[in-house]
Amino acid sequence: MKYTFLLFFLAVAAYPAVGFATEQEPPGKCSTDCHRDIQAVLPENHMIVEGENNISSCMQCHLPASETLRDTHVFSAKVHKKHFSEKKLECTYCHIIKEGLSFALPGRESIGIPDEQTMKFLPEITAEWAKSPFLAAVHSAKDIACSSCHGNKLPLLDDKPANKVCFGCHADYEELAAKTPGKDHPSRNPHGSHLGPINCTVCHKAHEISATYCLTCHTFDMNPIPAGKQ
Ligand code: HEC
Ligand code: HEC
Ligand code: HEC
Ligand code: HEC
Ligand code: HEC
Ligand code: HEC
Repeated sequence: MKYTFLLFFLAVAAYPAVGFATEQEPPGKCSTDCHRDIQAVLPENHMIVEGENNISSCMQCHLPASETLRDTHVFSAKVHKKHFSEKKLECTYCHIIKEGLSFALPGRESIGIPDEQTMKFLPEITAEWAKSPFLAAVHSAKDIACSSCHGNKLPLLDDKPANKVCFGCHADYEELAAKTPGKDHPSRNPHGSHLGPINCTVCHKAHEISATYCLTCHTFDMNPIPAGKQ
């Protein structure tokens, strides 16, 4: 855990209205704040978007993750990625957040109960998902949103996706092991060892540098882990 508190304090200093105690302004208006021509930032041949041009206009057609009937939520991934890899918007630009009560999009049901501690880290976690050397960013590059690993709910600080979440897109241990024998010593296989089928997240960290757990006991060489130390 090494998320700095700096971003949060800066954000609160710059936008007093965003703090939890106060009533929140309605979500931002994309067309007057930044995108005079909203059509210009949408995918080619996208349908005409009408309405107030805040995030509600998009949701006239775009469904929440739980209703898209797909494993991925490309719309969510693209919107978050655009707004967190270079510029960093406040979550409250689009979401309506009430501490201890609800985290929602306008007109939609709440997807979770944000606590103060989690809300300190979410802007940085989201920015690092959008762009960083960490494994979550390998996934955002393929338009994989938070919901593919965490479900359609607000991830909280103790969230740790189970192996079956990874199996939804990746092979199981047996198949993985067949792909990853050690280079000179096949038995030095991260996915086939005397440890058995342990949690993927023992080695693969989504929001920090990954590290091969075997090497806490062994000193032999192993193939490098993706999104690990360079
Ligand atoms: C009138 C309906 C409608 C509105 C309103 C709308 N969209 Fe879409 N959008 C679509 C359709 C249909 C697709 C094609 C994607 C699909 O096959 O599901 C799409 C695709 C997209 C995609 C490509 C990702 C994907 O899911 O395939 C993005 C990004 C996107 N829209 C962003 C937006 C944004 C941002 C807004 C609001 C400013 C918006 N859309 C409003 C209908 C709409
Ligand atoms: C520019 C607008 C925008 C901003 C800013 C934004 N979101 Fe979202 N968020 C969306 C949209 C659009 C969706 C998907 C809408 C839907 O499911 O209908 C969404 C959905 C989500 C979901 C549901 C799971 C998923 O992956 O779809 C989570 C969790 C979430 N946002 C977290 C955050 C957090 C945390 C922040 C701030 C760090 C943030 N969002 C900032 C627009 C935004
Ligand atoms: C919605 C599908 C999806 C889910 C869920 C998912 N992944 Fe991925 N994962 C991908 C895709 C797509 C890539 C990119 C593959 C590529 O670039 O070839 C990827 C890449 C990876 C890589 C890097 C592979 C490489 O060769 O660089 C690892 C490691 C990985 N995922 C582990 C996990 C783990 C662990 C979980 C569970 C916490 C998980 N993934 C959940 C789809 C998914
Ligand atoms: C003991 C540490 C460890 C555990 C536990 C682990 N991995 Fe890995 N994983 C690695 C290492 C190291 C590599 C790189 C191996 C290589 O390239 O030969 C890797 C590579 C991968 C890749 C890329 C494979 C490819 O096609 O080249 C995927 C996908 C992956 N792991 C998914 C998973 C999933 C899913 C789980 C849980 C079922 C898991 N890993 C558990 C260490 C681990
Ligand atoms: C590829 C799967 C994947 C995606 C995509 C993903 N996460 Fe995670 N998340 C994880 C895993 C695995 C953990 C467990 C801790 C770790 O490995 O870093 C985790 C942990 C967390 C935690 C608990 C705090 C922590 O760092 O342990 C939060 C909060 C969180 N994720 C938020 C998000 C948000 C917000 C998004 C989207 C912007 C997101 N995650 C996208 C896999 C993912
Ligand atoms: C908690 C410590 C620990 C961890 C973690 C661990 N091992 Fe081991 N490993 C041992 C011990 C103890 C032995 C038996 C003594 C020996 O021969 O070194 C052993 C033996 C081995 C051997 C046979 C002996 C050799 O050196 O070739 C291999 C191969 C091996 N481990 C691979 C792995 C792999 C791959 C991982 C990660 C998936 C792993 N180990 C994780 C402690 C550990």
